Amino acid sequence: MINQPNRSPGNQVISLASGKGGVGKSTLCVGLGLGFALLGESVLMIEFDIGLRGIDLMLGISDQIVFDLGDLLEGRCTISKAIVESPLNQNLNAIVAPIRMDAPLNTEDVHLLVNGLRPHFDRIILDMPAGLGTSAKVTAVAADLAIIVATPDRICVRDGCQMVQELQRAGFRNHRLCINRVDEKFIRRDVISDLDEVIDGVGSQLIGVLPDDPSIQLRLSRGLALKENHRVTRICKAIARRIRGEYVPLLLR
Ligand SMILES: Nc1ncnc2c1ncn2[C@@H]1O[C@H](COP(=O)(O)OP(=O)(O)OP(=O)(O)O)[C@@H](O)[C@H]1O
Ligand SMILES: [Mg+2]
Repeated sequence: MINQPNRSPGNQVISLASGKGGVGKSTLCVGLGLGFALLGESVLMIEFDIGLRGIDLMLGISDQIVFDLGDLLEGRCTISKAIVESPLNQNLNAIVAPIRMDAPLNTEDVHLLVNGLRPHFDRIILDMPAGLGTSAKVTAVAADLAIIVATPDRICVRDGCQMVQELQRAGFRNHRLCINRVDEKFIRRDVISDLDEVIDGVGSQLIGVLPDDPSIQLRLSRGLALKENHRVTRICKAIARRIRGEYVPLLLR
């Protein structure tokens, strides 16, 4: 569902980035998208992982895809043809990643595209590929806020720190950290201070903590929505509200 005009100017375009791959950027993209959608916002997710499409499965739209981001950027379709509405929630829409692109991604084209889409959606979430270069460049030109996703292992923390530095080199400073796949026993014991090391190591302020939860994989990989009262959905909704500037305690239970 595309609406007009935009109602939420602050942190409207959010990029999800990480140095290391497989840390949960696409999962958080869909979870956060659902969080904003449940708050009544119209959401567009744009997937940049060229050749490694994944959110179509999570959003249950893989058999509806005709055009993708590559078709849009290379002029083979109009914007409305590339946007697909997810059956998970009528506020959730996506432009999926290209299977291949003829030319390298042009950040100026991405900038123009995202700016053109701003008036039509309350929230735009950019699901970045792993790695520093493309993510930092696209984030710097197109996003208002970057969320760096990291798992609590040392390699991931170091890579997250490098992402922060790369963003800062690109002149981009509005970043937050989301720690994913945190062991249940930390959450049950409520020892958030055990995550201080991750926060300090990455060098970004914490905005959310997601548990390691097998139902994420079980449901999302089949395009099934997490229920509204599912703990992970509630956590994602709390992160969405924090991004909107509301005071919400880090919801861990
Ligand atoms: N909190 C979690 N609990 C359990 N499984 C998770 C969690 N977060 C992500 N996963 C699983 O980890 C795998 C990788 O997640 P995802 O694809 O979201 O990572 P990514 O950072 O987008 O990867 P890439 O760098 O390849 O784009 C998926 O199978 C996903 O279901
Ligand atoms: Mg991904």
